Amino acid sequence: MPRNLSPSASPVRCADIASSAFDAVRGDQAARRFGDDLRGRFHAEHCHLFSSGRAALSALFSALRARTPERDTVSLPAFTSYSVASAAVRSGLKVAFYDLDPATLCPEPGSFERSLGPDVVCAVVCHLFGYPCPMNGLADIAAGHGVPLVDDAAQAMGATVEGRATGMSGIAGILSLSRGKNITSVDGGVILTNDSELSRAIAGVACEPSRRRDIPALALKALLIWALQRPQIYWLPRSLPFLKIGASVFEPDFPIGEMSPFQAALGRRMFGRLDEINQERVRNAEDIIRRSGKPGRFPEPAPGSRPVYLRLPCLGQAGREIPEMGVVRSYPQALCDLQELRPHVVHGAQDCPEARRLARELVTLPTHCFVTEADRETLARSVA
Ligand SMILES: Cc1ncc(COP(=O)(O)O)c(C=O)c1O
Repeated sequence: MPRNLSPSASPVRCADIASSAFDAVRGDQAARRFGDDLRGRFHAEHCHLFSSGRAALSALFSALRARTPERDTVSLPAFTSYSVASAAVRSGLKVAFYDLDPATLCPEPGSFERSLGPDVVCAVVCHLFGYPCPMNGLADIAAGHGVPLVDDAAQAMGATVEGRATGMSGIAGILSLSRGKNITSVDGGVILTNDSELSRAIAGVACEPSRRRDIPALALKALLIWALQRPQIYWLPRSLPFLKIGASVFEPDFPIGEMSPFQAALGRRMFGRLDEINQERVRNAEDIIRRSGKPGRFPEPAPGSRPVYLRLPCLGQAGREIPEMGVVRSYPQALCDLQELRPHVVHGAQDCPEARRLARELVTLPTHCFVTEADRETLARSVA
């Protein structure tokens, strides 16, 4: 069978899936324990667990909106996961965009500031592919407009910048545990905040309770992730287009639910290995950059930051995807060009040419645990 690399993978273990299912059935206090671990590591006073990262983001938007009901817009990077825009629309909000600096993948400060206005509920900063964005300057700009900052660390769990963990700047942060993130619990999302009033508002957002009867289906999905992300088997899901593996979809009609005890138990087990898993990604990414001999093709991590390279982004690679090696464009269109999002974009939203260029020219290289030395050499040689 052909060996295929997936663009992203998370090294979930069979034994952890079995123990987590057992814990969930037994009624172990998995969610409380996972929440305690997260609060401890991130020095967060409050932690809320959700069924997905987009559910967490949407609950956060709704809670922030309740504080400023006269505002109706979220400011987003024009190049990011379509899930971020889906969450804004799910919360009944309009979207405005700001552009990114392609050399760092961080917000371009002038464009960021222009996206903020009296109607903006919050501005979201995403640490794309595990590259942390410095937040202090952006927080100052946002504060100047009375706009709270949301620190979206869905792709950067375990990274640090300016001496803080990503996810812990701004009024609140989010993490994701979906398939292909730094660690996975099949799906899962977290809100972290030190704002007690906001935490009460989040607790008040309508949220579907988790059901015991979902445990077998979730455990089966975890086993499928374990099996199908392997290079010997990945050709199978890749050859079934209806599975939409790796596709970016704008889908604002998703459930907002509690994280189930199974997801919390599995998330907690993987969280215990977060640094070890991230270190492997860092080693792989740095080795590919070194072997390529073209460090200028890769975005520059912010000075003093510790990136976690969920994937390794590579610039100026238009048309150079190699799907069987996991080299893909992550977001085929900038959010400002996404047809389905048009009805939700504020009038006069900025044009974001760099985001457009990133959508055309940026590919990501895999950095996960299934990438071998031979793969790193092939990946490095593929960089134009
Ligand atoms: C930056 C960012 N924010 C939020 C999300 C939503 O997370 P989830 O996939 O867990 O719904 C994603 C998912 O890809 C993401 O990349």
